[in-house]
Amino acid sequence: MVKARKSFKICVIGSGYVGLVAAACFSKLGNRVICVDKDRNKISRVKKGVIPIYESGLDKLVRDGVKKKHLFFTSSVSEGVQKSDIVFISVGTPSRDNGEADLSAIENVARYIAGHLNSYKLIVEKSTVPVQTGKKIRETIKRYSKKGVEFDVASNPEFLREGRAVNDFLSPDRIVLGVESKRAENILKALYKPVKAPVLVTDINTAELIKHASNSFLAAKISFINSVSLICEETGADIEKVALGMGMDKRIGRSFLDAGIGFGGSCFPKDVSAFIQIAKKSGVEFKILEEVKKTNSLQRRHFVEKIKEELWILRDKKIGVLGVSFKPDTDDIRESPAVDIINMLLSEGAKIKVYDPKALPKAKKILKGVTFCKNVYSTAKDADCIALLTEWEEFRNLDFKRLKLLMKYPFLADGRNFLNKDFLESLGFKYTGVGR
Ligand code: UGA
Repeated sequence: MVKARKSFKICVIGSGYVGLVAAACFSKLGNRVICVDKDRNKISRVKKGVIPIYESGLDKLVRDGVKKKHLFFTSSVSEGVQKSDIVFISVGTPSRDNGEADLSAIENVARYIAGHLNSYKLIVEKSTVPVQTGKKIRETIKRYSKKGVEFDVASNPEFLREGRAVNDFLSPDRIVLGVESKRAENILKALYKPVKAPVLVTDINTAELIKHASNSFLAAKISFINSVSLICEETGADIEKVALGMGMDKRIGRSFLDAGIGFGGSCFPKDVSAFIQIAKKSGVEFKILEEVKKTNSLQRRHFVEKIKEELWILRDKKIGVLGVSFKPDTDDIRESPAVDIINMLLSEGAKIKVYDPKALPKAKKILKGVTFCKNVYSTAKDADCIALLTEWEEFRNLDFKRLKLLMKYPFLADGRNFLNKDFLESLGFKYTGVGR
């Protein structure tokens, strides 16, 4: 990584996945970064090096940044804003009951910023927001700030994936800059100069839309392949080979064609719902998106039905669950398909044991009536079924002979098509995947 030629004074408001990663990475690029969060407890723990999330490489970046005095944490918005030239907004935009994004935290921050403008600032939205939010931020800051203080608003959506966030931030596929002035464009281009990636400069509305359209498109790819997997199950075709064959066409691409129990996490479910609302507000019927959402939730139910097909009655059956996080390499369980499936199995009266390499502390807070295990083998003991719900690498090369001996009935339900079906069947397992 080339060092930044120019160093910027940056404030990042919000220390969630995006905010904390952005703050740590900007500091690594040689900038002075103040990361602000209203949660004082969180801030005092991060200052001591206790990172609230499991994200590969992040704790080291934060520790290095703090040690080198490039990265600071505070719960004072005024301190962060007044000591900085660029202010990134990366606060949460959770779903409201109707699926729309709740922008109250964004509006709040915009008012705070307005109250503390002491010199020209470039205010950049990094949170995922509906198109035209930038306009609202500009209006709000103008309304609540002192007359004559100059500022620009810009949009710089983030495309990082949890579990690979640091790498995605420092080596992205593209950098999108939504700006309305040359001054803002030049500042952001200089800030990102050390990051080697194509830069796309657009207006703010376009940048905002790129983010929602990208996430919704990826979610649509997943639901598409999941629907194809159902046809595979009925016809005896193999979804893995179908995805491979489709993906060999460069126009389609193989990524995000992994059939399974569907997508979860803090982004896709929320963003698809928000995009549906955005379309509605724009008077556009975007029915594909409604179907993407519906297909995704049916896929979870379908997987439970497959377990029932094999075990018939689930009441008092022992099911060992491997994986609770919404995907591997993260401890995040928000909107995790695994959590949903565990709750469905519980409601059928099954006895559930759960193991996850990283997500158990979070799972313990929300899953009631299940037994948490220290490893795969204790999860498998006396089980009528092992359900693999998150494809952690650790599950690939297990001692399957030992696993089989431990189980009451060697039935493996693979919700991620992660394991070697032929090998497991040769060992005497009853195996079921999705669409294979
Ligand atoms: C997603 C996007 O990939 C990022 O580009 C974006 O920045 C981020 O949302 C965001 O908006 O912040 P993330 O939610 O971390 O990133 O996770 P993904 O790797 O995209 O996976 C999302 C879900 O889809 C997971 O539950 C995963 O298991 C599932 N998935 C993914 C499939 O079921 N099949 C696939 O082929 C791929």
